[in-house]
Formats: sequence, structure tokens, C-alpha cells
Amino acid sequence: MKIGIYGGTFNPPHLGHMAAAVSAANVLSLDKLLLIPAGVPPHKTMAEGSASNRQRLEMTGLMADRLGLKIPVEVLSLEMDREGKSYTSMTLRELRAIYPEDELWLLMGTDMFLTFHCWYEPEVIARLAGLCAFGRTEKDGEALFAPQRDYLSRKYGARIVTLTLPNMVEASSTQIRQALAQGGGEDYLDPSIWGYILSNRLYGTRADLTQLSLSQLRAVGESMVRAKRIAHIRGTEETAAKMARRWGADETEARKAAILHDCTKYFTLQEQLSTCQKYGILLDDMEKTTLPLLHSKSAAGIARAVFGMSDEVVSAIFWHTTGRADMTLLEKILYIADYAEPTRKYSWAEQLRKLIETDLDAAVLRGLEITIEHTAGKGEPIHPRTLEARNWLLAHRKEA
Ligand SMILES: [Fe+2]
Ligand SMILES: [Fe+2]
Repeated sequence: MKIGIYGGTFNPPHLGHMAAAVSAANVLSLDKLLLIPAGVPPHKTMAEGSASNRQRLEMTGLMADRLGLKIPVEVLSLEMDREGKSYTSMTLRELRAIYPEDELWLLMGTDMFLTFHCWYEPEVIARLAGLCAFGRTEKDGEALFAPQRDYLSRKYGARIVTLTLPNMVEASSTQIRQALAQGGGEDYLDPSIWGYILSNRLYGTRADLTQLSLSQLRAVGESMVRAKRIAHIRGTEETAAKMARRWGADETEARKAAILHDCTKYFTLQEQLSTCQKYGILLDDMEKTTLPLLHSKSAAGIARAVFGMSDEVVSAIFWHTTGRADMTLLEKILYIADYAEPTRKYSWAEQLRKLIETDLDAAVLRGLEITIEHTAGKGEPIHPRTLEARNWLLAHRKEA
């Protein structure tokens, strides 16, 4: 197995790191990638608003998920956990013990590569791993790499691959932190990592979570979920916005409801329950044990308490899994946008996409029926609010 090892302070991880990791994984045909945030010695005084070790670890976890690689990408805390001085040769010895038969490749930027011979125990590193250096800018091409490559392979017998990354983001973490403190920086970051920084008020950002712009709210919301759910959430937002324009609801409110509707989708059952308890949300017996129903309740709690959303937005999120009798316009829009958004590939989704243009109640009714059929098909109990919602529409809706 070919394993890439990419260390750094990741303070914060930015698009340059991500482009480098993806290119190296492809060029080397890696089978696995390990991301290793460096430890910061406890005695080192950090500037106010700096990320803690745990926060850098979490941001690196977001980066791992957002790379979109088909191979496993793991984040290891072994350098953060190490007491005393920490050197790359120590890390490689530990990894060699875990992976005795595998081919290890150490990924590094130009600066590190050009000073490699000054590192601690370069001969040990070169014996345990191949070196993969990537140019950070267009200037870091062959002319710069070739003499060092020849020197290191002669002196240490190092195996070396160098690559220059076109379109690579030309910004250092220091510059990005400065930009963040001045209200910018998002162009250099994956939106989820920017959102994580905003919600944790890192690096001098001072976001008031109850006053976020739509793009900030989107980023913070995305930082709470896994990469694979983001297309669904963006699809729901655009569908809800379109429906709001079509049916006369407030488009911004529809967008906000969609952005946050699944933000707690990856909470564990225990996290769902404690979130609901924290925000005073009462649950019925069925909700208490049904994970797919719970996320709408916990997300509504967070939407209100953390993000200061309006009652309309909160209730749209609250009812988006079960529906209820006599739904508000925004509740209907979110309920059905969640089903009709473009990444839904079921045959009924196409039918819903047509109905939302012409007959909103018919679309909601169809959505409720699909839920009822689907749940019954699995032999699971149907939530009473869903049956009430359907019966109410059957009794009250006007035929288009
Ligand atoms: Fe949901
Ligand atoms: Fe959803």
C-alpha cells in the first residue's frame, strides 16, 4: 500500500493545502492519506483568538472530508499528543512501526524541501519515506527543484518526486489569518472551514451568529455536516428559493430555513436528545427513539437559540420531517423542497418538481403520501402528525 503523509500546522487548513493533497494523491497513486497537524508546545504563547490543538484537529478533519478523494484520508493527532520536542523522524518511526510493509511518502512544500538537509535526522527520514515536494507557486518549477533533488538523492539516497501545481492558491496561513481578522479570507478557504472559523470566532473574526449574512450562514451550516450532504442542502435551498418566488413567500427566510434544516443530521441520538433538552424542546415517545425524526427538532432548537432565526423559519425546520395539519406557506415550501430538490433521483421526484410549479398543496400531499408509503413499506410506524397533515389536506385543499 502507498501511504501519503502530510503534516503541517494547518492553522487554518486552506485551499492550497487541499490542492496539494489532492494532486499528490493522484500523482503518487496513493492508497491512503494521513493528515498530521503539528503540535504546538504548551508553553508557546499563542495570539488571542488562535485555534487550539483540538480546533486545528477538527478543521483538519473537515479538510479530510472535503478533499473528495476516493481513498481513506485519516487525521492523526500523534504529533499533538507527543510530549516534549517533536520531529518528523519520530513520526515516521512511529508510522513505520504501524505500517512495516508499506511504501511511505512524505508530502512537503517548496520551503521544506529546499531546507530538508537542515532537518533533524534527514537520513532517517529519507530511509523511511519517499519525498514528494510540490511547488507552491508557478515560480517553484524545475529550475529550483532540480539541484536540490540531485543533492538529496546523492547524499541520502532519497526517492524524490517533485510537482508544480498550476492554479495553486498563493497565500500563506499567516496572510489568511490577517485577512480573516479584517473580515475577508474566505476566498482562500473551503466554505466549511471558513464557517468553522466564524462559528468559533477564531483568528480575530467576531461574527455575531444571530446576524450572519446568507453566505456566512451557509458556510457555518456546511461546517456542521459531512461533504456528501452539501449538494442536497444547496439543492434544497435553491428549490425553496424558487418556490418562495413562485408562491409569494419571503425568499431569504426560505433560504435560511433550507440552509439549516439538516444541520444536526450527523448528531448522535444522545447529542440530538441533549440538544433538544438544552433548548426546551419537548419530544413525543416516537421522536425520542427515531433518529431520522429527531434532527428536525434539534436543528430547530439551534436555529432559534444559536442563529436567532424567526418563528417562521424555526417552525419550517421543526416540521420538515413529519409535516402537520394546516401547515404555513414556509413549512410547505421547506417540506417539499427537501423532496423535490435536483439531487433526488427517485422517479417520484420528477413528478414533484412539476407539481411545485402548478399546485403547491398537491405537491405537499404527494410528498406526505410518499412518506407514508415508504415508511409503511419498511414496516415502521407512521408519525401521527404525518397522517394528520395528509388528512387535513385531503379535507381542505382546493383542487387546482
Ligand atoms: Fe431533514
Ligand atoms: Fe433534507
